[in-house]
Amino acid sequence: MSCKQHRQVVVVDDTAALAETAAQRLVNRVAQSGRSAVCLTGGSSPEGLYRLLAEEPWRGKVPWQRVHWFMGDDRFVPESDPLSNMGMARRLFLASAGAPRGNIHPVPTDANYPEGAANIYEDDLKKFYGAERLDPARPLFDLVLMGLGPDGHTASLFPGSRALDEKQRWVLGVGKAGMEPFVPRVTLTFPALAATREMLFLVDGAGKRDILRRVFSGEDLPGSRAYADGELVWLIDRAAAPEAVS
Ligand code: 6PG
Repeated sequence: MSCKQHRQVVVVDDTAALAETAAQRLVNRVAQSGRSAVCLTGGSSPEGLYRLLAEEPWRGKVPWQRVHWFMGDDRFVPESDPLSNMGMARRLFLASAGAPRGNIHPVPTDANYPEGAANIYEDDLKKFYGAERLDPARPLFDLVLMGLGPDGHTASLFPGSRALDEKQRWVLGVGKAGMEPFVPRVTLTFPALAATREMLFLVDGAGKRDILRRVFSGEDLPGSRAYADGELVWLIDRAAAPEAVS
């Protein structure tokens, strides 16, 4: 699949509707029988979704025993640090909603350095997947959540970085973040993020309208390069929607 993949854009009224719609899509994706895998994202955009998953009725709709939770990128800080993406996900829903501990797969940020953590996480993903190579016919994830930064970055794939062109590795250490917070990161690469039945971008607020316009107009930015072996869906609220799509 190339970056010219058809992108489905879903516009909802506001942040609350964004969280509800994302929750419904997540529930639909993990509903099939057997083990399923969701790759989470950091940032503020998924917070509403994460809070919903901890509460009824959504909590009761997730088959917690069968769902595994990964993180598309994380800051290289301990999970107890407020900057930790997995720390946030645990606080907002994983710890209280009933996700078995063994189903939560954090980036090992206690490794000695980001590249070491990336190697370990790549091995974890390969073990979970059961193969060394990704087969587009058998996605690694059922759902991959993504955010969009004001500079067009997604996960910890920043504009102009070499990580954008990575084709072999599943996970990379990012020594220098392109944007605040300026802590080293660990990120899945585009091919690993693409190995999903659905990639769901969550973008809200007027502050995102300009960067969304640039992504949708085809400018070469990390957010525009993201693709999925399955469906590629951009869920945005009206405030973020550029004129052409609102
Ligand atoms: C991170 C995120 C990052 C985020 C975007 C959007 O660790 O920083 O994974 O890629 O998704 O920066 O963040 P907001 O949702 O806060 O705008």
